[in-house]
Amino acid sequence: MQHHDLLVVGSANADLVIGVERRPAPGETVLGSDLAVHPGGKGANQAVAAARLGARTALLARVGDDAHGRLLLESQRAAGVDTDGILVGGAPTGVALITVDPSGDNSIVVSPGANARLTPEDIRAARDLLGAARVVSVQLEIPLETVAEVVRTLPAGTRLVLNPSPPAPLPAQVLAACDPLVVNEHEARFMLGGSAGQDPQDWARGLLRLGPRSVVITLGAAGALVADDRTDTCARVPSPRVDAVDTTGAGDAFTAALGWRLSLGDDLTTAAGFAVRVGAAAVTGKGAQQSFPTIEELGAA
Ligand code: RIB
Repeated sequence: MQHHDLLVVGSANADLVIGVERRPAPGETVLGSDLAVHPGGKGANQAVAAARLGARTALLARVGDDAHGRLLLESQRAAGVDTDGILVGGAPTGVALITVDPSGDNSIVVSPGANARLTPEDIRAARDLLGAARVVSVQLEIPLETVAEVVRTLPAGTRLVLNPSPPAPLPAQVLAACDPLVVNEHEARFMLGGSAGQDPQDWARGLLRLGPRSVVITLGAAGALVADDRTDTCARVPSPRVDAVDTTGAGDAFTAALGWRLSLGDDLTTAAGFAVRVGAAAVTGKGAQQSFPTIEELGAA
């Protein structure tokens, strides 16, 4: 079994993207741009982002036996991701309907399709793949019971990075394994319920009380905040200034970069410092995967 810096366990979607001047209100129709179809999905995006940076990366996911599934397999292979863990069949490939407005912000509706058929049994069958990675990264576009099985199957010493996107209540066992839990402002507020307040440092303290070993909060143009009680860390990491074209996938690129650098032994603050540069670069191009930088492009940025 080949060893990997990062194994991503997660979704693979075909992204159907339309640019709009503004999003329609309920009951309203608006005209948009030509349709663009890109490979996407939070799991597939993370795997491509890490591999483009130079990480030895594998993806454990499920796609349909259809044209969208082939598009996704092709984009993983082109980026150099180990695709042995990509399962095919069971349902059509997941689809994400995405609108992007002139500020680069997006709204996304996902039809999970084959992602919903990535089962706990699939995880048990991939035990060797899980055992061959230094860091395992998961998100929530696959069933929660599958995420919980990843946590149960992780060998001691393998680090788990979890981005609860789209947000859902997490079992205590899953939360306790996160090192770090990576959230944006929206996900932080969801997890903290009514007790969020306005100060990201308070969010970090509140999130740590939920049980993860460490927390990273992404703050868009304001960078990120990292918090880890074991090292008495609560640090702000600034982001370079960029002109946003399309924010789709920027969080995935950030989390992949963070996971990769943690696998190389960076501390959390250093890894987040690298990851904000990758996330910033990813908002400067259209689409998700096609906007992710190589390590050379990042150096030039
Ligand atoms: O995070 C961006 C991704 O979310 C898109 O590629 C889309 O597929 C949805 O999963």
